[in-house]
Amino acid sequence: MQISTLCVIGGSGFVGSHVCQQLAARGFRVRVPTRDRERAKSLILLPTVDVIRADVHDPAALAAVVRGCDVVINLVGVLHDARGARGFAAAHVELARKLVAASREAGVRRFLQMSALAAVPDAPSAYLRSKGEAERIVRESGLDWTIFRPSVIFGPEDSFLNFFARLLRLFPVFPLGSPGAQFQPVYVGDVAKAFVHALSDSGSIGGSYDLCGPQRYTLRELVTWVGRAINRPRPVIGLSRSLSYCQALALELLPLKLMTRDNFRSMEIDSVSDSPFPFGIRPQSLEALAPSWLATETPRARYDRLRSRAGR
Ligand SMILES: NC(=O)c1ccc[n+]([C@@H]2O[C@H](COP(=O)([O-])OP(=O)(O)OC[C@H]3O[C@@H](n4cnc5c(N)ncnc54)[C@H](OP(=O)(O)O)[C@@H]3O)[C@@H](O)[C@H]2O)c1
Repeated sequence: MQISTLCVIGGSGFVGSHVCQQLAARGFRVRVPTRDRERAKSLILLPTVDVIRADVHDPAALAAVVRGCDVVINLVGVLHDARGARGFAAAHVELARKLVAASREAGVRRFLQMSALAAVPDAPSAYLRSKGEAERIVRESGLDWTIFRPSVIFGPEDSFLNFFARLLRLFPVFPLGSPGAQFQPVYVGDVAKAFVHALSDSGSIGGSYDLCGPQRYTLRELVTWVGRAINRPRPVIGLSRSLSYCQALALELLPLKLMTRDNFRSMEIDSVSDSPFPFGIRPQSLEALAPSWLATETPRARYDRLRSRAGR
């Protein structure tokens, strides 16, 4: 299949910007709808990427951004639901349905869907259930779909390792909820490679791929490791299940959502997989990559922190 133009919904986010950079580096034309062009400013500089302000929940706007594309990639995701599960339903389930309909209508056959490890319609958290429901919609779409199911994704701009690094810099002791939850962190560059590879591999049509890094860790091991990597080796106090729930509830009540009870429920299921990384890609390890951005207090990291503190 000859591919020239792709529409990457959710292309302005952390994973999306890596996917778009790799697509642009291969000379593809990439269309990225966003609610806020400011958020996608790193992409605006890329010569073959068009960042378009659009409300992708509006079927007419969606039809316009998808028209003329050869492939649709759906990366839209929310981790914290500000609207009590309705946000998950709108961003994951309803949008997947609208996107499938718009793709069919526009004659776009190839469809790549970002899901998450352990996403099933009867998962314990609303986040995983909505991702599972979106998978079902894509599988039943009749399109040439491929689904990706990553564990937690790390990279210079992630909100996982960087989140713990920020807290470890602030507090001398670290009370940690769900300390035994397991993860298999995967590098964002490897995730983006998998998406790009799938485009030239017709064998990936109808395939669902778990995307995990080379090693499993408990959350306690990860936080302890981050503490060492940033030279703040703090004592990590693992909380019991009931205290973890109470911590999640307390944090959920803060205006800035750091953690919610739904996140707690997601962590009840280990985010790990025995499946090999697809397409012969060798996933890179946390230890090999993350110290280069965690350990160094770059001006960019300071700037990002100030922005995040200012709520921008
Ligand atoms: N990061 C991880 O560790 C991880 C792990 C497993 C799965 N995933 C999945 O990977 C995907 C990308 O994650 P990410 O970390 O890159 O997230 P992110 O940085 O928060 O980016 C999310 C993207 O989705 C769009 N979006 C968010 N809410 C939306 C809404 N209500 N309506 C329309 N668009 C909306 C945003 O577009 P705007 O420009 O319009 O804001 C943004 O481009 C998600 O589907 C996520 O569930 C991520």
